[in-house]
Amino acid sequence: MIDIEALLTDRMEAMEPSGIRRVFELAAKMKDPVNFSIGQPDFDVPEPIKQAAIDAIRAGRNGYTITQGIPELRAAVADKLSAELGWEIGPERECDVMITNGTSAGLLLAYLALAEPGDEIIIPDPYFVSYPQVAVVAGARAVFCGTYPDFRMTAARLEPLITDRTRFIVLNSPGNPSGVVLGSDELRDIVDLCESRGVMLLSDEIYDEFTYADGREDGVFPTPGRFTSQCLILRGFSKTWGMTGWRLGYAVGPSRLIREMTKVNQYSFVCAPHMVQHAGVVALRTDMSAYVAAYERKRDMVVEALGGLTELAHPAGAFYAFPQVPPRLGLSGDAFFRKALERNVLVIPGNIFSQRDTHIRISYAVDDARLAKGLEVLAALMK
Ligand SMILES: Cc1ncc(COP(=O)(O)O)c(C=O)c1O
Repeated sequence: MIDIEALLTDRMEAMEPSGIRRVFELAAKMKDPVNFSIGQPDFDVPEPIKQAAIDAIRAGRNGYTITQGIPELRAAVADKLSAELGWEIGPERECDVMITNGTSAGLLLAYLALAEPGDEIIIPDPYFVSYPQVAVVAGARAVFCGTYPDFRMTAARLEPLITDRTRFIVLNSPGNPSGVVLGSDELRDIVDLCESRGVMLLSDEIYDEFTYADGREDGVFPTPGRFTSQCLILRGFSKTWGMTGWRLGYAVGPSRLIREMTKVNQYSFVCAPHMVQHAGVVALRTDMSAYVAAYERKRDMVVEALGGLTELAHPAGAFYAFPQVPPRLGLSGDAFFRKALERNVLVIPGNIFSQRDTHIRISYAVDDARLAKGLEVLAALMK
């Protein structure tokens, strides 16, 4: 008789199942809800990208690839990022690229390469759900940088949290769950702080393309990569091209670090799906600006409906808004979530992304008619 319970590690005890799952399970029981809980675009993968994957399968590109990814995709990513950031990227260069199984895998590989048990990793609060849990896998401790009420993770908020155990800071702009986009001045200050304290910066830029006009500066996406090549940039294909189930992302940063992350990848994920990597080359050439413009209009609908009723940090990117539950209602995020549920609208309570429970996350990646209907319900509840 094997006693599984006795064999399970303390790590498993410390790791919490994703609260988003609980909301998904509730959604499955509801009849045609307005679903503002989903963290993925509502559009399908564009046809040329699908065709590229089909062609790759038919051409027999079904085996393993080298761990760091097929040369064509790595070259396409290197060209894109060196044009954008001016970095020297490629084998034998200062920085290198590796293809990952989604941004999630990039996060895990980076945490394992950079954090020892007992080390500290500073993450924003509110945060993307993986940031504290992956720290558990690495045996490290997540230190929360409170960013309420404006959700701006600034150098001034970070500085007092840095100790001699701090290994890296996770930055996420545009942010999940807030949609807030940091500006160049703020990013430059964070880069300076990291350099002066010898702390690595990990920039999760999965929503880079979903940065609207008011989050851009002269049309350009603000990233710490403009001020240093000594940070790790993680991006992915899940959101921009609607490829969440295809598991494709990339990491670009100092070659020494990419080499170690590749080593961990050899013994874990092995490689991103071969045919998907070929489709990724086509994705990088596929213009999504019309889709992004449609999401910018949805964002405007959210701000217009709720901005006057409660505190709402301006969401200049991603496809989320994180309004406060108006304090005069005397409800927690979870209590408001239940009230919305009774009206057939599904949001996510703020405590799933935070140590606090005062807000709700709305994903507005839904069609305009449903968005309008759901916003009407939320606005009525907030009045
Ligand atoms: C901020 C952030 N980072 C990473 C991910 C993971 O994305 P991927 O599908 O590339 O693993 C998500 C997905 O919701 C996210 O919101």
